[in-house]
Amino acid sequence: MRDTELTYLGHATFTIKSHTGKRILIDPWVQGNPAVPQSLKRIPSLDYVLITHGHYDHIGDAVEIAATHPSAVFVCNFETSVWLGAKGVAEANLIGMNKGGTIELDGIKVTMVHADHSCGILDEGKIVYGGDPCGYVVAFDNGLTLYHAGDTNVFSDMALIHELYRPEVALLPIGGHYTMGPREAAKACEFLQAPTVVAMHHHTFPVLTGSPEELESLAAGRWRILGPRPGDRL
Ligand code: NI
Ligand code: MN
Repeated sequence: MRDTELTYLGHATFTIKSHTGKRILIDPWVQGNPAVPQSLKRIPSLDYVLITHGHYDHIGDAVEIAATHPSAVFVCNFETSVWLGAKGVAEANLIGMNKGGTIELDGIKVTMVHADHSCGILDEGKIVYGGDPCGYVVAFDNGLTLYHAGDTNVFSDMALIHELYRPEVALLPIGGHYTMGPREAAKACEFLQAPTVVAMHHHTFPVLTGSPEELESLAAGRWRILGPRPGDRL
């Protein structure tokens, strides 16, 4: 990981500490996330928060984290940034963007990429439009490139993510039901050609039955499949 620390908090939530000490949280669902170990529920300091989409199991604690971490900058699609602004997140702390765009954050290049999913935001019992769901390619200036797929089915344009950005590490949902399961994730591995794959978004709820072991057997040694437990540092 070239001095980059990646910690799996659980479900689709990860923290990254870059080799320069910048702290990134991907998918701010921490307090309400039953997978996150108690010892990791308090997030010490944060520079950036990346949000893949507006489902509560990804955005659930964003507004609260914005209040407790007033210097953290939130990156998300345009529509979600407007929604967060309406919920009290300061405009100066919001970067709304869209797919294909790249921003640079302290030398870290963050590119928003496609995800095949939905993105309604649950707001006081109603679903409001949250723009499109996405994934992120995060390229550090030490050469490490990560891809967080968000919630998605497999799509053949994952081959473009490989061609354009060459992520070495791919964080992929494998639980099925709301996202791809192991069968589709194995196909995603073929498109992405990332040497290391980290399985996520499984077993948090009973319907998310896909397991890292199933993906590993389908990968047949072609990729290194990691199935971290919540709290594991990679
Ligand atoms: Ni979702
Ligand atoms: Mn989800």
